[in-house]
Amino acid sequence: MAGKPLLRALAGEALPRPPIWLMRQAGRYLPEYRALRANAKNFIAFCLNPELATEVTLQPVRRFGMDGAILFADILLVPHALGQSVAFVENEGPRLEPIRDEASIAKLSAGRLPEALDPVMQTIKSVRAALPADVTLIGFAGAPWTVATYMIEGRGGTDFENVRSMAWHEPKLFARLIDTLADATVTYLLAQIETGAEALQLFDSWAGAVPAPLFETAVIAPTARIVKAIKTKHPHIPIIGFPRAAGSHVADYAARTGVDCVGVDHMTDLATAADAARRCVQGNLDPILLLNGGLAMDAEAKRTLDAMRGKPLVFNLGHGVLQPTPPDHVARLVEIVKTYAS
Ligand code: CP3
Repeated sequence: MAGKPLLRALAGEALPRPPIWLMRQAGRYLPEYRALRANAKNFIAFCLNPELATEVTLQPVRRFGMDGAILFADILLVPHALGQSVAFVENEGPRLEPIRDEASIAKLSAGRLPEALDPVMQTIKSVRAALPADVTLIGFAGAPWTVATYMIEGRGGTDFENVRSMAWHEPKLFARLIDTLADATVTYLLAQIETGAEALQLFDSWAGAVPAPLFETAVIAPTARIVKAIKTKHPHIPIIGFPRAAGSHVADYAARTGVDCVGVDHMTDLATAADAARRCVQGNLDPILLLNGGLAMDAEAKRTLDAMRGKPLVFNLGHGVLQPTPPDHVARLVEIVKTYAS
């Protein structure tokens, strides 16, 4: 089968040499990222500057020869575009004006979304025009649960008390927020496809914090709804779902959301997850091994390639690149994936 390696793997082909890209491959571990970041007044302005965002998207592709270019943006652009106040505080992370009641949910408005996120579409167009022919442009959004955790908690790094309370005790309010996010996400992702994204990833980074009895309503149902709405219009655009730390829910998630590929974290055995998901999987090297590099990283990357031989795989980490990671370690990992044959 001809075509870009990443798209072939996502379509279920077990390639002799699997494609590779890394979550958070564009970011502060790269000196060329830090140099450009210094030009922007804040992180949201950086994401919404098509010229800078295009360049940052291309940096890891140029430096390492990745098979995928992930759009440079952030999952919290959606709450920003819906009208919630979102700020990224240096060395602390995101701070949002927390949403805890009906009135603050009612204030969110999807009407401004296309205009507010139009700069992202400009980035997509210019990245597509500049990408090498065999590299796939991956668009993305946060999945509703994960975005809702930031919107309700107002920040990261909590134990999710507020969002879990709302999900258990105010199910109607919670459902209204999840539905608002699912609709906004569909609008946003369709626009990404229509301007040039060739594959999509839904980041459900905090899926592991959902109480088991709520996994269906918080994760599976809204993800399935998004996937269905996108597939109705664009059946050939592959969708990667990344329900991080979802453990025992992986098989159900794969079967019932309809994603083409399941992103697997490093707490889960990749080959076992592939058998349970019965489709392409993406993952799952521990980012700590990439940070530390050396023989342990080499051996684990090779073990993963051996364990997955004959199964469709997109090589990636189990979560994003950690900030102090030496770029040389990334170059070494890409070399192993591109040259190793057992
Ligand atoms: O390279 C890429 O992966 C593309 C760009 C991208 C960013 N964020 C850039 C970013 C992507 C795909 C994301 C997704 C994202 N954003 C997630 C899901 C993935 C995950 O890591 O679980 C989440 C939870 C967020 C929310 C977010 N954005 C947080 C919590 C933070 C602060 C913590 C941190 O890592 O700095 C961000 C900021 C952010 N997003 C940075 C980058 C490069 C660092 C900002 C800076 O330059 O100061």
